[in-house]
Amino acid sequence: ILISGRGSNMRALFEATLPAKIVAVVSNNPTAPGLEYAREQDTETRVINHRDFADRNAFDAALASEVDSFAPDLVVLAGFMRILTEAFVLRFAGRILNIHPSLLPAFPGVNTHQRALDEGVRLHGCTVHFVTTALDHGPIVIQAAVPVLPEDDEKTLAARVLEQEHHIFPLAVRWFLDDRISLHDGKVRIDSTLHFPDAVISPNHLSPDDQS
Ligand code: GRF
Repeated sequence: ILISGRGSNMRALFEATLPAKIVAVVSNNPTAPGLEYAREQDTETRVINHRDFADRNAFDAALASEVDSFAPDLVVLAGFMRILTEAFVLRFAGRILNIHPSLLPAFPGVNTHQRALDEGVRLHGCTVHFVTTALDHGPIVIQAAVPVLPEDDEKTLAARVLEQEHHIFPLAVRWFLDDRISLHDGKVRIDSTLHFPDAVISPNHLSPDDQS
């Protein structure tokens, strides 16, 4: 699991008792509060501080070899706030999942909640997607929507979305570990026997043929 800060999504993954071992938590930020929690779980932690590197390529190369040293089946970006280079993404192609706090493709990038408020959208939410070389545009696994209320500010809206992040991220990771999601022509195919919680909009790309 790669983190940069608080680590509440990482924590949701620890608490989900997944059919996998979380082999390591790696942060680019030495003071990320999430590192402490990971240590308390007796999980290996590593810091690869991006400030120690001359450029993005050098940082990513160091990050990739650290991640590789744990031979993970899946790399999970849980609030990891650095843009990854193509070299990193291709090295772990098809096995990097990210959580993004908007209903992609709306509001890629940062400050998603304030931008949603500024645009006056009535629905906002979060997305778990496979990471590709296109920032915040990888194939979508699952999304959860929340209403935007008239009295919302950035903080209240972020909290409502975060609650859903903690539901759908462990779900998506579990599906990956159970081989219940796969990539086909740049889209995610999901095992049709899966149950979708009410808040979840996905799978918008399942056709009757896919479900057979
Ligand atoms: C989450 O909103 C996540 O979607 C975004 O950054 C935030 C990280 O929060 N990428 P946390 O560190 O998981 O608490």
